[in-house]
Amino acid sequence: MKIKKIETSKINEIDFNNLKFGSVFTDHMFTCDFIKGEWINPEIIPYQSINVSPASRVFHYGQACFEGMKAFKDDNNKVWLFRPDENYKRIVKSSIRLAMPEFPEDIFFEGLKNLLRLDSDWIKPGLGNSLYIRPFIFANEGTINATEANQYKFMIICAPASSYYSGEVRVKIEKSFSRAAKGGVGYAKAAGNYAAQFYPTKLANNEGYQQIIWTDSSTHQYIEEAGTMNLFFRIGNKLITAPTNDSILDGVTRKSLIEIAKDEGIEVEIRPLKVNELINAAKNNTLIEIFGSGTAVVVLPIQGFGYENSRYELIQKENSWAIMLKNKLNNIQYKLIEDPYNWTVEV
Ligand code: COI
Repeated sequence: MKIKKIETSKINEIDFNNLKFGSVFTDHMFTCDFIKGEWINPEIIPYQSINVSPASRVFHYGQACFEGMKAFKDDNNKVWLFRPDENYKRIVKSSIRLAMPEFPEDIFFEGLKNLLRLDSDWIKPGLGNSLYIRPFIFANEGTINATEANQYKFMIICAPASSYYSGEVRVKIEKSFSRAAKGGVGYAKAAGNYAAQFYPTKLANNEGYQQIIWTDSSTHQYIEEAGTMNLFFRIGNKLITAPTNDSILDGVTRKSLIEIAKDEGIEVEIRPLKVNELINAAKNNTLIEIFGSGTAVVVLPIQGFGYENSRYELIQKENSWAIMLKNKLNNIQYKLIEDPYNWTVEV
């Protein structure tokens, strides 16, 4: 693999104490091209703008997908990835759904590890600090017939990260717009899934919510996910999360929390949750916690939600499961405890 290093690092210009999620990128990036049926020219080069044809199909038909993963530094300055095989499998799944070629596993991991080794100074130790890694694939063939392209680019860029949200988060349960439909691409990390959420989310933002809880597109009666995170509901003494299906992303954090919660003796129910059940639980005070999970947000406690014209507030509880699960997960990710699941992979 060709590696072209930067001449001078820009790391000293970065204020690592005031990072806005996804706005600062490390010195290098990984790129690889799919041309004439083959992935060729894997290389690491200085982070820079790229040259693409304005006719690239990604701009016209949205043929693109991505992943979100994280690297952490432990107290001995070792760098660790968290379940990277899951992200690799999911980008393949997303690519297949979008009629894009599968990116080879060996090049994925070689490129990723070389990139992280080169930019390892950008990964700061300490709880809360991480490197957010964004692998993505897009169609860069410069012809606009509406079929799958023959030419693609795979890239990895990395952004040092601290928290995704600051402040309290309230969500709106959406009844009119839909994120994903049966048989659609909701389970894939398709770029277009995110574009389609921006307008309804903007409307929700204007009503004072940070995010939307999406419901199923046919009846709007069942809770799905929040678009940038999966959702967990603590009702009574149970933790409930929707089963993944073709309209819900199979989150890596989600599945990790389910395992940790079960091992902590929490009764986890993976089942469809009706909006009505949630409203009733809120009304009779059995709804104790709601939290989101995702690579970017990790575990995000939600303070309240809105449905139709009513707003519901959650009372801050001691013994929060969200905080307990987040701490357990972080302890594994930052190698503060033994990783009993073998989820961490040294770079
Ligand atoms: C992630 O958690 O990696 C996500 O995909 C959310 C992202 C769109 C910020």
